[in-house]
Amino acid sequence: MGSVRGNETNLSLGKKERCSRDLSTRHYMKKTIKDYDLKGKRVIIRCDFNVPITNGKIDDDNRIIMSLDTINYAIDHNAKVILMSHLGKIKEESDKDKNSLEVVSVRLSELLNRKVIFSHNTRSEELTNLVNNLKEKDVLLIENTRYEDLNGKKESSCDMELAKYWASLGDIFINDAYGTCHRAHASNVGIAKLLPNGIGFLIEKEITKIDSLLNEDTHPFIIIMGGKKVSDKIPIIKNLIDKCDTLIIGGAMSFTFLKAKGINIGKSIVDVENISFCKDMLDKYSNKILLPIDIINENSENIKIDNIENDIGYDIGVETTKLYCDKIKSAKRIIINGPMGLFEQPEYANGTKNIYKCITDNNIKTIIGGGDSASSAKNLGFSNSFYHISTGGGATLEYLSGIELPGIAVIEDEKEVYN
Ligand code: 3PG
Repeated sequence: MGSVRGNETNLSLGKKERCSRDLSTRHYMKKTIKDYDLKGKRVIIRCDFNVPITNGKIDDDNRIIMSLDTINYAIDHNAKVILMSHLGKIKEESDKDKNSLEVVSVRLSELLNRKVIFSHNTRSEELTNLVNNLKEKDVLLIENTRYEDLNGKKESSCDMELAKYWASLGDIFINDAYGTCHRAHASNVGIAKLLPNGIGFLIEKEITKIDSLLNEDTHPFIIIMGGKKVSDKIPIIKNLIDKCDTLIIGGAMSFTFLKAKGINIGKSIVDVENISFCKDMLDKYSNKILLPIDIINENSENIKIDNIENDIGYDIGVETTKLYCDKIKSAKRIIINGPMGLFEQPEYANGTKNIYKCITDNNIKTIIGGGDSASSAKNLGFSNSFYHISTGGGATLEYLSGIELPGIAVIEDEKEVYN
C-alpha cells in the first residue's frame, strides 16, 4: 500500500490536528494514487495547469512538468487517464479564448511524448463519448473547468450537479493540483466527495517537504518575507512568529514596518491599513524582527534609512544585504515568502539575488513558497538550488498559515495512526 508516510516526516493531513501539525498526537495518512489498482480504470487526475500564457504561448511550463510523475504513473499502470484543470479566471465569454487549455494539451503531448486527446467541452455528450472510447494508457485533457463559471460560477462554488457529471466520467479521482488546494471547487472537492480518491505525487511532495521543514526541531529557524502587501502576510506572520527565531523583512512590505517605527519612508509603498499591525509586531517582537537599514531608490542610489527624503525604495541596500546574510549564515532552516525587491528589473534584483546566494553558499535547508518568490528563484538562476520551491501561491500561503486546505482535507484517510 502506498501512503504519504516518508522517511522525512509523518504527515498530519487530516481533521483538526492538521492545523497544529502536532506530531505527538493522533494524525492521519491520506490515500495516494499508489493505493489503487488503476488497470483499465478511468482515472480523473485534477492538475494545476494554471500557467502563465502570453499571446498564446506558455511562459513557464513548470507546473505542467511537475504534474508528469503522477500522469506517467497512471499511464504506466494502464489507466484511462482523464486530466482536468482550471486556467485563469473566466468572468465573461471573451475570457474563454485566452484561457483555453488547448495550448497546454500541445505542451503536455510533447512532454509525455504521446498523443493527448483534447476535449473542447467541459460538459457534453461529445465529452462523455470521448471518455467512453478511451483505451488503456490514453490521455484526455478536458477544457478549462472554469468555463463552467460563466453559467453561475458552478465550478468555483463547488456545484454538486456539475461535480456529479464530472464524477460520472471516472472510477477513481486523484487530486494532484497542489496550487489549487486552497480552493473548494467542483473539480477538486466536489468530485472527491463522489469517487474513491487519493492524492498524487506532487501534493505528496509539497506537503512532505513543507511539513518536514516546519516540524524539524532545529534552530535558528529564520523566516524571510518580502513582497508588496503586509495584509497577505499577516496570517503567516501570526502563525510562525513564535516558532521562528528571526523574521527578516524586505520588499515593499518593509516600508510599512519602517513607517510603523516612525521612520520617513519618502514615497515608498505603504500598506496604510496595516501600520498598526506592524507596530504591534514590533512592540512585541522587536528582538526577532530585522528591518532594512538602507535601500536602493528609483535612481539606483544606495540610501541609508535615516537619509530617505522623497525616495521610493525598490530594493534592500548593500548594508542590509550584509546584515541579513550575517544572520542567515547561522540558520538551520529557512522559509522564504516574497522577494527582497523589484527583482523583475535587473537594477533592483541584487538584494534578492544576494540573499539567495548567501543561503545557497551556506547550504541551508530552505523552502521558497509563493508565486513571486518561486519565479524570482527561477529568473535569478536558483531553480535547483533550494531544498524545495513550492508550485503553490495562495495554497502555500494558506498552508504556512496553518489553515486546512479543503482540496487535501476532502481526500480519504488511509488509516488512523498514533505516534
Ligand atoms: C494559483 O495559481 O495560485 C492557483 O492555480 C489558483 O488559482 P486562482 O488564484 O485563480 O484560484
